[in-house]
Amino acid sequence: MYISAIAILAGASALGLVSPIVHASKHCPPITGDFNVTYFRLYTENFDYDFINCKAYFGSLFNSTVLRKDLGTGKEEVLTFPGISGNDTFHLSGVLFNRRDAVYMAVGSASAFKSGGVILNGPNRLIKYNVFTNRVVYTADVDPVLAQLKTLTGNSYNGFQDIAEDENGNAYFIATFGGAILKVTPDGTPSTFFYTTPVIVNGSSQPIWSSVFATRNVLVVWDAPIQKFLRFDTTSVDPGNTYTSFPLTNTPGRFDCDRLYLPMMFDDKIALCSNGDGTYVFYSDDLWQSAKYLGLADSTNTGGVPSASAQMSNSIYTNSEFFSDSGSVNSPGNRSVFPFTDITREVLNIVPSGVVNGSYGD
Ligand SMILES: *[C@@H]1O[C@H](CO)[C@@H](O)[C@H](O)[C@H]1NC(C)=O
Ligand SMILES: *[C@@H]1O[C@H](CO)[C@@H](O)[C@H](O)[C@H]1NC(C)=O
Ligand SMILES: *[C@@H]1O[C@H](CO)[C@@H](O)[C@H](O)[C@H]1NC(C)=O
Ligand SMILES: *[C@@H]1O[C@H](CO)[C@@H](O)[C@H](O)[C@H]1NC(C)=O
Ligand SMILES: *[C@@H]1O[C@H](CO)[C@@H](O)[C@H](O)[C@H]1NC(C)=O
Ligand SMILES: *[C@@H]1O[C@H](CO)[C@@H](O)[C@H](O)[C@H]1NC(C)=O
Repeated sequence: MYISAIAILAGASALGLVSPIVHASKHCPPITGDFNVTYFRLYTENFDYDFINCKAYFGSLFNSTVLRKDLGTGKEEVLTFPGISGNDTFHLSGVLFNRRDAVYMAVGSASAFKSGGVILNGPNRLIKYNVFTNRVVYTADVDPVLAQLKTLTGNSYNGFQDIAEDENGNAYFIATFGGAILKVTPDGTPSTFFYTTPVIVNGSSQPIWSSVFATRNVLVVWDAPIQKFLRFDTTSVDPGNTYTSFPLTNTPGRFDCDRLYLPMMFDDKIALCSNGDGTYVFYSDDLWQSAKYLGLADSTNTGGVPSASAQMSNSIYTNSEFFSDSGSVNSPGNRSVFPFTDITREVLNIVPSGVVNGSYGD
């Protein structure tokens, strides 16, 4: 199963086809309990787990590198990207395994985040990295699309930080400030998918969308100003006129999500929203036409902020990001030890029992 899955996937990607989704398999060693990742300036804002090769990918926000680690053997390596890694005009804030063959990395303009939505002219890139060939598939430069959008609307869209992928291998790359979703086709070509009108308060563009997820051809973002989900059909020729929006039934109060994540073990019916409070658990049984707040999965954050969660092998983890270690927000300090908290039990305690899908262990 392990060998043949890899052979099929590698063959499919060489032919440029989109391979079928493979669910997590038993061959990855189970991971349970809290652990630390010790690496100078790791500052992970986002991470994910490749359950085919059993490797974790920890983004390094301020270095724009990614630490790839086998959590079983401890073997690790740092992935670097020419022109991007170590270049402090960038922050690497999004990391997503597409459940097939690639890890996406969202690389956004550092100044957009450091300035809190005031400086909105920095560069943004989306990297797609093939986990079988260990090569970058593409680095999409979205700056020309942003320049076109500015000409068209007069508005600045910037601060990209998250990605999702549809069934056809198109990526959706989201700008937090102004509110834009760009579509990047499998050959790496970006174009505008959807945008909204910026909300400006005292010269600062406010965060609109900080997180996105997709299941099949359904794309969902949490819209912070209106406190609603927006749901898109990625196959629609006119997403701007066909999307729907809905609030949560049951709500934890006003909130934003730094990351929204669908753990595979719940068959995409549970979304985890990590933010300063911990990790909110949302449930939908109608393919995200509606959703309900179930509760908060708490974590000990040791002075940091849980900015993401991810299923790693059979368990669900959240991180602690130390955004203000240096004394100023969004700059690195000199930390080397980064805690990851096992919140599987907390999440399972909230999720109705029928929702757990076997796909974390079979
Ligand atoms: C992680 O490191 C901190 C600080 O060194 C330590 O207090 C804590 O016990 C460690 N956690 C684990 C799970 O090893
Ligand atoms: C981050 O960059 C520093 C140098 O500034 C380097 O020592 C460290 O190993 C890097 N860490 C990662 C995870 O890239
Ligand atoms: C850092 O990124 C900027 C923007 O893409 C680029 O102009 C500059 O050449 C990069 N610097 C290095 C040292 O790669
Ligand atoms: C805008 O700035 C003014 C002056 O600093 C301040 O009094 C006001 O509270 C700010 N408004 C908002 C909504 O932050
Ligand atoms: C990190 O260490 C360097 C070298 O010791 C020091 O100059 C710098 O001030 C430290 N940064 C922080 C935020 O503590
Ligand atoms: C789990 O998910 C798989 C793949 O989506 C599906 O085929 C299967 O029916 C699901 N199992 C349960 C118990 O819901």
